[in-house]
Amino acid sequence: MDKIVIEGGHRLEGKVRINGAKNAALPIMAACLLLHGPSRIKGIPNIVDIQTQIKILKNLGGEIRHIEDGSLEIIFRDGEHKEKITAPYDLVRKMRASVCVLGPLLSKRGNAKVSYPGGCVIGQRPIDLHLKGLQALGAKIETDEGYVIASAGTLKGTRISLKGQYGTTVLGTCNVMTAAVLAEGTTIIEDAACEPEVQDLAYFLNKAGAKISGIGGSILTIEGVKELHGVDYEIIPDRIEAGTFMIAGAITKGEITLENVRNDHLVATIEKLREIGVEVTANGNTAVVKSNNTYRPANITTMPYPGLPTDMQAQFMALLCTISGKSVIAEKIFPDRFIHSAELRRMGADIRVDVPYATINGSPFLSGTHVMVSDLRAGAGLVLAGLVAKGTTHIHRIYHLDRGYEQIEKRLSQLGAHITRVSE
Ligand code: EPU
Repeated sequence: MDKIVIEGGHRLEGKVRINGAKNAALPIMAACLLLHGPSRIKGIPNIVDIQTQIKILKNLGGEIRHIEDGSLEIIFRDGEHKEKITAPYDLVRKMRASVCVLGPLLSKRGNAKVSYPGGCVIGQRPIDLHLKGLQALGAKIETDEGYVIASAGTLKGTRISLKGQYGTTVLGTCNVMTAAVLAEGTTIIEDAACEPEVQDLAYFLNKAGAKISGIGGSILTIEGVKELHGVDYEIIPDRIEAGTFMIAGAITKGEITLENVRNDHLVATIEKLREIGVEVTANGNTAVVKSNNTYRPANITTMPYPGLPTDMQAQFMALLCTISGKSVIAEKIFPDRFIHSAELRRMGADIRVDVPYATINGSPFLSGTHVMVSDLRAGAGLVLAGLVAKGTTHIHRIYHLDRGYEQIEKRLSQLGAHITRVSE
């Protein structure tokens, strides 16, 4: 197993190019199951979650090959591999997002057998809303030995609400949307997630011949079509990777230019950074982050888009730990998503968690030690803290980080961080 070792205290400076969005790429790759013929998809990050998704799709009969750096060709053909309907536990347990093959399989092959993803360290993560939406379209759902067994004759358009206890659901919206595009008649999804990654899936499907309107709003109208064809498509830039690099610049009081960003997807993150005192200049598809100012503490609340993303919470927590004064974080999407706070405390942070709140008494004196990554974004938060901690930080279990950030240590080191990957 590898670990990351960081010697803190080095100001970051320079340019970094942001990759395509993991959370857009994963459902778009799954949606290729619905298409007849080859699709060429650009902007696919080279990360472990994408490799897992490739394995899942190959298992389902997909022909997938890298055609150039960051591009994949994915081919499914109508009528082929009808009997391949399983996403096995071994792969789904590695990556919950693999559940997004459920909608396309049901729609295209009439049957799906997908392992229940189960909970994880960021929370319970049920899929009841996914199943409720698919049932409303006419699917029969059963559970057998830890698998969702879904079957359908003809899926039929209907009106569905995807509102749950914590708002709507991102992958649930993807599943219902992908099941509805080839259904008979019109489907209206109320309380749909409007995250840019869900929008990207809808634009991809429309390019392939689907008829989805209301994209970016909370009501999606999907007129069923008879078939979809392969397309060339480019995935949107990753707003969470961009936000993470923005905080890397901010926390080290550096100056970083981010290239290939969608600033319109980053409004909540940029506004919060400015409130803290970070200078962010957004210009076209670049953003420059710098600061010579003294930062102010802040209160943050994670919300569905366009609110501040839960996937930026750990990174903001790291930043707020270094700012003198009291900050409060309210986690409204995954109320238990605070495991990183215990590791940050080991670095000297003063954080009190009272779910769903974390109260931080910040001070500029974090110190390096051994810490453990519990999930992808927790790992990002710990790396950011390590960049400014006094002394050396050893970050263990970085396989979580490799799931979602491509060569994080190399890209940070090109910006001037003293960071290396070491085999343990
Ligand atoms: N929920 C339900 N029932 C459901 C589905 C969700 O109650 O059927 C609840 C969840 O427990 C949670 C809330 O609804 O409290 C939102 O969960 P959502 O379904 O939106 O999350 P997800 O689709 O499983 C995606 C991202 C996550 C991101 C969340 C929230 C992907 C692959 N994953 O997960 O990303 O945190 O949306 O924005 O798109 C990450 O990239 O590190 C990551 C965890």
